[in-house]
Amino acid sequence: MDYSIKCDAVEKLAGDCLILGFYQKRKLSPAAHAIDAMLDGLIARLLKRDDVEGKTGDILLINHVPQGKIERLLLVGLGKKEALNAAGYRKALAAAAKTLKDSGAKTAVSVLQEADVREQDLTWKVRQTVEVFENALYTFTQLKKKGDNNKPPRLAKLSFQIDHDSDAPAAEAGLKQGQAIAGGMRLAREMANLPGNICTPTYLAEQAEKLGKSNKRIKVKILHETDLEELGMGSFLSVSKGSRQPAKLIVMEYHGASTKNKPVVLIGKGLTFDAGGISLKPAANMDEMKYDMCGGASVIGALSVAAELALPINVVGLVPASENLPDGDANKPGDVVTSMSGMTIEILNTDAEGRLLLCDTLTYAKRYEPASVIDVATLTGACIVALGRHPSGIMSNNDELCQALIRAGEQSCDRVWRLPLWEEYQEQLKSNFADVANIGGPDGGTITAGCFLSRFAEDFPWAHVDIAGTAWKTGADKGATGRPVPLLAQYLINQAK
Ligand code: BES
Ligand code: MN
Ligand code: ZN
Repeated sequence: MDYSIKCDAVEKLAGDCLILGFYQKRKLSPAAHAIDAMLDGLIARLLKRDDVEGKTGDILLINHVPQGKIERLLLVGLGKKEALNAAGYRKALAAAAKTLKDSGAKTAVSVLQEADVREQDLTWKVRQTVEVFENALYTFTQLKKKGDNNKPPRLAKLSFQIDHDSDAPAAEAGLKQGQAIAGGMRLAREMANLPGNICTPTYLAEQAEKLGKSNKRIKVKILHETDLEELGMGSFLSVSKGSRQPAKLIVMEYHGASTKNKPVVLIGKGLTFDAGGISLKPAANMDEMKYDMCGGASVIGALSVAAELALPINVVGLVPASENLPDGDANKPGDVVTSMSGMTIEILNTDAEGRLLLCDTLTYAKRYEPASVIDVATLTGACIVALGRHPSGIMSNNDELCQALIRAGEQSCDRVWRLPLWEEYQEQLKSNFADVANIGGPDGGTITAGCFLSRFAEDFPWAHVDIAGTAWKTGADKGATGRPVPLLAQYLINQAK
């Protein structure tokens, strides 16, 4: 979609649809009031006639406007004026986008950003609008034949009305960030929604290489199984040897600052299909395990955002990619493998494979002398039990880093909730036969997974984000969400300040 800023009086705007806000008890926003006056009270009359109160997300579409250069009016409820917060604003935007998508309008002008949103500025409002609209208009079409059910949405242009020229830079900044983040999310979603027979470790590596080719500042290097052997990544390779698809370690380096600046290292779990291995998963919903590469996809997406915004920092993206399948050569419960760190691991459950890839990748990250390391992974079903599907889980060995990520999550509306990594939990990983076991029993499964990773992250500030509940939606609107690209992008943007 095309986005622009328009500095004009609302009465003078032209387009297929004008998006206006109103508050509870049908209180019109200043712009809605001005248009209402121009139309002799039409808006107020229709809101009353149809009993639309102004609760957050309430919608009234006036499909024909008798005068002026505007074809339609879309009135969007913003709830109680004093109570309008980030979540409410996003809810209202989503309702507006959904209605607009089906309205037939090709162009629209939004005036919603005139509303005061608690603790948020114009840049944030414009940026969120772009993100919410791109999300609402996204459909996965790659694998469907072209035809009536597979047409691009008609809505092709959205402008943001501002009253003063002096507001233009803030609005432009919002546009730029919003488009970059939405682009990163789209990239991640497109890869994630592809099935395991198409999106293999090799395919993921090709997508990363493609990104490297289109951005001068991103260098991409693919490590193959022979390289991983040389590095001693016995834990990572133990998972991939049960699959016919060769594993890859995707290494992406974004250079936006002097090489003296220590990089942020982002690690994303790239399991392109997780059947569980010999500890085979049950059949129900197993298709969703194609999404086990969402961490990897979001790291690739976050690097694209950094490059798009030309952030003055250095970022390294590492994506260990593999399948986890049952096979004569697959890990067996009880197998002991040696990780790159030298630590031996007893694999009591072959379905706890993500950590087996991530531990070697964490050890690999050390060579960058990182400022911080953040891994993102669809690591445990237990995270969905603990937190549901609203926040991602976060665990960290560094309070400052963890706080920075919690804050970035709030700013970007891609929230995380911290879980403890207390010493008591570490006990659950004791093995009689190796240095550490790969599972910690039924209790606190998300935390013991975090504890396992922490053993390999002692040399740098590190945070682990479990995105099992947030990376994709299940049910009728099954599909990747693009999270946590906004979280990672915001963290990087904040590092650049
Ligand atoms: N990829 C799964 C985690 C997962 C499952 C994410 C369902 C989202 C939905 C991971 O590899 C896994 O299988 N984890 C096991 C760990 C257990 C064996 C300790 C799990 O969660 O059951
Ligand atoms: Mn698994
Ligand atoms: Zn997995």
